Amino acid sequence: MPPRRSRGVSRRDFVKAAVAIGGASALSACLGREDPDLPGGPDDLSALPDRQHAWNDALATDDHGNHVPPRHHLLLYLDYAGDGTPTDDDRDTVETALRSLEHAYPRSTDDGDVGLLFTVGYAPAYFERFDEALPERVDLPAPEPLAPFEDPTPDEPDAVVHLASDYGSVLLAAEEGLLGEATEVNGRELDATFEGVFERAALAGDGPNRRTGFIGEGLPAENQDVTGIPDSEPVSEDSPLYMGFESGFEKTQATEDRVTIDGGPFAGGTTQHVSTMHLNLDQWYEQDTRYHREATMFCPAHADEDRIEGTGENLGDTSGVGACAAGVEEDAREKGVVGHAQKNARVREDGRPVILRRDFDSTDGNQAGLHFLALQQAVSDFVATREAMNGSDVADEAAVGQRANNGILQYINVRRRGNYLLPPRESRALPTPSA
Ligand code: HEM
Repeated sequence: MPPRRSRGVSRRDFVKAAVAIGGASALSACLGREDPDLPGGPDDLSALPDRQHAWNDALATDDHGNHVPPRHHLLLYLDYAGDGTPTDDDRDTVETALRSLEHAYPRSTDDGDVGLLFTVGYAPAYFERFDEALPERVDLPAPEPLAPFEDPTPDEPDAVVHLASDYGSVLLAAEEGLLGEATEVNGRELDATFEGVFERAALAGDGPNRRTGFIGEGLPAENQDVTGIPDSEPVSEDSPLYMGFESGFEKTQATEDRVTIDGGPFAGGTTQHVSTMHLNLDQWYEQDTRYHREATMFCPAHADEDRIEGTGENLGDTSGVGACAAGVEEDAREKGVVGHAQKNARVREDGRPVILRRDFDSTDGNQAGLHFLALQQAVSDFVATREAMNGSDVADEAAVGQRANNGILQYINVRRRGNYLLPPRESRALPTPSA
């Protein structure tokens, strides 16, 4: 894919707000602004990848070969509307609705923009309705707290649809189409909708069942008038995320192959963890120094040697923290600070992390947040990474606390967690435990 072109700021801001609000009037207002004029998707779907999570081939790459994530994201939390176990008719309906979206939108355009990419995942709660258990090689536990200092609410819907596009209007139209609130999307009649089969989920603690967000240059800066970001509007115009740095370098991401389940009935699938966290960046931007931000996000050596310019684009296709990973204990003892990426790099296999990050910022609830969405072969890969990020092994060394000076833990507050199985495309519609 060619590098992407930039777009007008006021339109982006407006579109982000419309996606967060949702509904028919937000869609028409958004369409008026974006006017995407997208071509349709393919009539013949046989060339689509078997893996739902195979998005990279549809993404543009930047000058360093890093995949550029879609700018707008929507998570739809759904419950199965029927009683007992899904019928074959239900499966046909869901599959036909999903295929309608694939016919309606291209995965990417000739300009390198993302038309529509999506995945459908199923929570452990969904599989409980079957007598039979999931195969042992599918590691899909119920969500639980992953740090001694957090108390997240578990998300236990039946399913989650993750929709992503460079156009907010595409997400809103796809949402309406799937849920039966519109009969056509992108000028194409839908052959089926989720109506009667899936409904918006009722989540514990009144958790939001539609979650929205964005990632990419300009978007965080344009949307920093929210709780959790100081009034001085410190987020730079060129930052893709609220915390001010590039993330998701090509070489510090797991490959799609690494995160794919490689045998059994769900071969070609993956698991997805989605946590919703609130950000509190008052201290990050108002009191902490640039040195501290570099040291805690990357590693102290990067800060000592001034390796990071601006958002870190100069780093190329890797954060370069591989060499710091072995020095976590020493940095805790001698420098009183350890880095987020540095700690996580202790979980690499064959020189790369074992999770594929597809996270994005959010203004849901008018609160600066981040939906941390990660794909991995087994949920235990995520848990191992999060344990490394906790840095409990070095807390209380010198000036490193459980959260203070311990990576970025002090600035994030995990509110909700959920785990999902993303079956391969062929069994994405209401699978049984044997697919
Ligand atoms: C506000 C939340 C977060 C922000 C802003 C953030 C940002 C970053 C940045 C800037 C990097 C270095 C650049 C890169 O390698 O892509 C990084 C690396 C990484 N982060 Fe995060 N991160 C966040 C949360 C998390 C969480 C919750 C996890 C999972 C437990 C995680 C896992 C990783 C991993 C695996 C790496 C790469 C480590 C390696 O190089 O081996 N991050 N993150």
